[in-house]
Amino acid sequence: MKDPIKEAASIIRESKYLVALTGAGISVESGIPAFRGSQGLWDKYDPFEYAHISSFYNNPKKVWSMLRELYRISLNAKPNPAHYALSRLEEMGFLKAIITQNVDGLHQRAGSKRVIEFHGSGETLTCLDCRKKYKIYDVDINVPLPKCSCGGVLKPDIVFFGEMIPPEALDESMNLARCADVFMVVGTSAQVYPAAGLPIMAKERGARIIEINLELTQLTSSITDVFLQGRAGEILPLLVGEILKGNRSKVDNS
Ligand code: APR
Repeated sequence: MKDPIKEAASIIRESKYLVALTGAGISVESGIPAFRGSQGLWDKYDPFEYAHISSFYNNPKKVWSMLRELYRISLNAKPNPAHYALSRLEEMGFLKAIITQNVDGLHQRAGSKRVIEFHGSGETLTCLDCRKKYKIYDVDINVPLPKCSCGGVLKPDIVFFGEMIPPEALDESMNLARCADVFMVVGTSAQVYPAAGLPIMAKERGARIIEINLELTQLTSSITDVFLQGRAGEILPLLVGEILKGNRSKVDNS
């Protein structure tokens, strides 16, 4: 049987429009916990009590207790080899865009240029009363309830359950899924829609699906063509190395 990394590398070398969808798993090696599974955030916090928009409106102080914990981890986190490998793939001209469900900004910090933040961004906040925007570094998150100068409650610009996906992000991501001839899915349990529908849409348009995950997901047996099982921070650098090897041998043979 062909080595799956070699197989994925050859698919990517021949691709014309590679798009990646990333999830919490890609940032686990940066120290940010994923949502599902043991040690996932939703093991500790019930998502309906802490991540639904109505919970934020009803009891923002309670939701901020979870947000504060997340911010303390993510503001100190650094991109890991998986983020850098995707940035390298873009630089090499293969990867056209990353659609990320993450709100940690680590792809951009690793140098990726075209990043669509499907679930919004934790780096900015909006006042629920006057709509003034703040950058996270200008906000004191150590108080029980971060507020605007007008006294209104600040809400991070992340998409809570029950909120709409930002329309531009949804449009752009659907277009990318339609254009992709190879679609790479990294570190997502693919349980949350509409994000989980993007690889399915790409597959329906004829894209090959490469999936990188520690565990099998509902995509693995249904639409995945090449499954690379393991840590994204190990697999992605190996994949980039393999693609580079192939490029070099093409040059050597010409
Ligand atoms: N490398 C690769 N995959 C990993 C790694 C790793 N080092 N660590 C964990 N994973 C995988 C897990 O096996 C799991 O399939 O990452 C996936 C993480 O899944 P979730 O925690 O469900 O995260 P995600 O799919 O991004 O969640 C989607 O759900 O609660 C919402 O808004 C939140 O954006 C989030 C959305």
